[in-house]
Parts: sequence; structure tokens; C-alpha cells
Amino acid sequence: MRRPPQARSPERQSASDQAKRTDATEIDQRQPNATLPPLTLFFDLTDNKDFPMSIQTVGIIGAGTMVNGIAQACAVSGVNVVMVDISDAAVAKGLATVSGSLDRLIKKEKITEADKAAALSRIKTSTSYDDLKGAQLVIEAATENYDLKVKIVKQLDGMLAPEAIIASNTSSISITKLAAVTTRADRFIGMHFFNPVPMMALVEIIRGLQTSDATHAAVHDLSTRLGKSPITVKNAPGFVVNRILVPMINEAFFVLAEGVATAEDIDAGMKLGCNQPIGPLALADMIGLDVCLAVMDVYLQEFGDSKYRACPLLKEMVAAGQLGRKTGKGVYTY
Ligand SMILES: NC(=O)c1ccc[n+]([C@@H]2O[C@H](COP(=O)([O-])OP(=O)(O)OC[C@H]3O[C@@H](n4cnc5c(N)ncnc54)[C@H](O)[C@@H]3O)[C@@H](O)[C@H]2O)c1
Repeated sequence: MRRPPQARSPERQSASDQAKRTDATEIDQRQPNATLPPLTLFFDLTDNKDFPMSIQTVGIIGAGTMVNGIAQACAVSGVNVVMVDISDAAVAKGLATVSGSLDRLIKKEKITEADKAAALSRIKTSTSYDDLKGAQLVIEAATENYDLKVKIVKQLDGMLAPEAIIASNTSSISITKLAAVTTRADRFIGMHFFNPVPMMALVEIIRGLQTSDATHAAVHDLSTRLGKSPITVKNAPGFVVNRILVPMINEAFFVLAEGVATAEDIDAGMKLGCNQPIGPLALADMIGLDVCLAVMDVYLQEFGDSKYRACPLLKEMVAAGQLGRKTGKGVYTY
């Protein structure tokens, strides 16, 4: 059953505001001449005072689709990068992908040859985690697998400087849970980039329950220096964007299954009526219907709310192997 959002009632708001006022009044009455210490004193208790407020060197784990884009975004913004993967072939391919992407920007006259050379000079590739030792931030963006990510973040935790921050680019794994396997849970955070990273302005910055304000501030600052527009998100399944996007796609399958409109008209409706650049069904074909179904199943399990049940038509199409563009047939035929 769908539940309306729980709005905070004006009564409750004013009661809590009243409580705050009462607290302040009580402090004033107890110590009429005392000057209250700055609020930051309360927030800084767990924070290291030598915290790197300006991150200059970023380590990135994995040299796949996402890491190439993150490395490029960092390097063109003047941030040094150490890109580490498990194989030499992967890092060589990763660097070649960045080089090709910069060539396309030169052709579009967005950067010069000199900009490209400067950006590439900032990227160091390696297959050894030892080369990450000088990084103030390491972004884990390896294959999406919980056990693998736990292994990687434990390894990073054991070798990085105590003040270094670890971030994960995971799409679906709990940041709070990953942070908890390290000894620096306050210096652990999610940085969810969007594909293709050099083109997409958004970074979801995900705060685990333990993430400190200083960690959030350092990562927020870096994200804006990369030219991104970050949003801050509390750790929760799907974070913000996928939490809204994938159920919308699922609803489009219900609308299609009920014969309310054709696939073409559903997509045209959402493009023309909501200014979406691509219709939800065409987007499902791009993402992969199996991925959409898996995400809905995670939400159903994690939230225990039937509003996240997958559309039977989506399940049928996945069972038939009609997964979208990657199989040549999904909602549309390719
Ligand atoms: N592809 C997307 O659209 C997208 C978008 C947002 C977030 N993400 C997330 O980003 C992460 C990476 O996704 P991707 O699409 O780039 O994956 P990918 O499969 O393209 O690349 C993963 C890389 O990780 C490497 N790797 C595996 N184990 C490693 C280890 N122990 N140490 C170092 N490297 C290792 C692999 O060799 C591979 O090169 C995932 O967590 C994914 O959920 C992906």
C-alpha cells in the first residue's frame, strides 16, 4: 500500500522549536554572564584537527567505466590521480580511454593539446596499493560486489595515513555497513558519480551514520572543484536518484502492461510532458531490464513495502531474456 509522506506537523515543529528555546533560556539563566562556546566545538570532538581540508591527490580503485571518468574529471581540474587496478591491461586500457575522451574534447575545442598533456601528466597508474600511500582520499570504484568491496576497504584502511578519507562509488551497498568494517568509520563516505562522469554534473555524497562533518566538508569541496554539483544524501537503499528513477521506470511497465498507452506514447508523454531527455521505457532498455528488476527486488526486501513490487511484465521480459539493448530486444527491438 502506498503511504503518503510523513509531513512534520506545525504543532510538532513549534514544540521542538519551543524545546530549543527553553534549552537556550535555561543555559542563559544558569550562567547569565557566560559566553557560549562556538557550536563547532561540539561537532569537532571526533574530528582530527590535521584533517586535509583541501584534497590534492586522489587514489581511485578499479580502472573500469567509472574510474576512467572520475580520473579524467580529477585530472582536468588539477587534482593528481593514482589509478589502481589488479591488472596492467586494465590500467593501460583505462588510461587509453581517458586519452581518447580528451581527444574528443580537443576536437570539440573544449580543451587544448596542452590541457590534455597536463591532465595526463597528473594521472599515475599502478597495480600496487602501495602507490596510494600519499593520497588524502581514495575512491573505491571496483566491481559491485559486497565481499570484494569489504576486502578492498579493509586493505585501504590498514595502509592509508590515519587522516585519509575512504569513499565508495557503490550504487547499492550500504555506506554505513562498509564504514563499519574499517577503523575510520568517521572518515568513510559515499561518492556516487553518474555515467559518463565527465558529462554528468551530479555527485550524490552519501553520509553513513558515522560520517563526520569534516569528512563531508572535504569531499563536498573536492566535488565542487571537479565542476560537479553535489547533493548530500543520508545512507538509504538507492540513495536519492535511483530510489526515484527505478520505481518510475517500474510504473511505466505497469502502465504499458495495463494497455493504458503504447510504449512509444508512454515515452513521448514523459519526454514532452516532463522534459525528460529519454522516456522511461527506452531508459530501461539502456540500463538493462535485469538491472531494473534486481534494484526493485532490493527495495522490496530492504523497505518491506509492497509499493516496490516489480511489475509482472518486467519479470516476464527478464525471464524471456529480453533485457534491452544488450540483448537486441527489450521494450524496443534494436
Ligand atoms: N557503470 C555505471 O553506470 C555506474 C554508475 C554509478 C556507480 N557505479 C559503481 O561504480 C563501481 C564500478 O563500476 P564500473 O561500471 O566502473 O565497473 P567495471 O566492471 O567497468 O570496472 C570494475 C574494475 O574493477 C577492477 N577490480 C576488481 N577487483 C579489484 C581490486 N581488488 N582492486 C582493484 N581493482 C579491482 C576490475 O579489474 C575492473 O577493471 C561499482 O561499484 C558500480 O556499482 C557504476
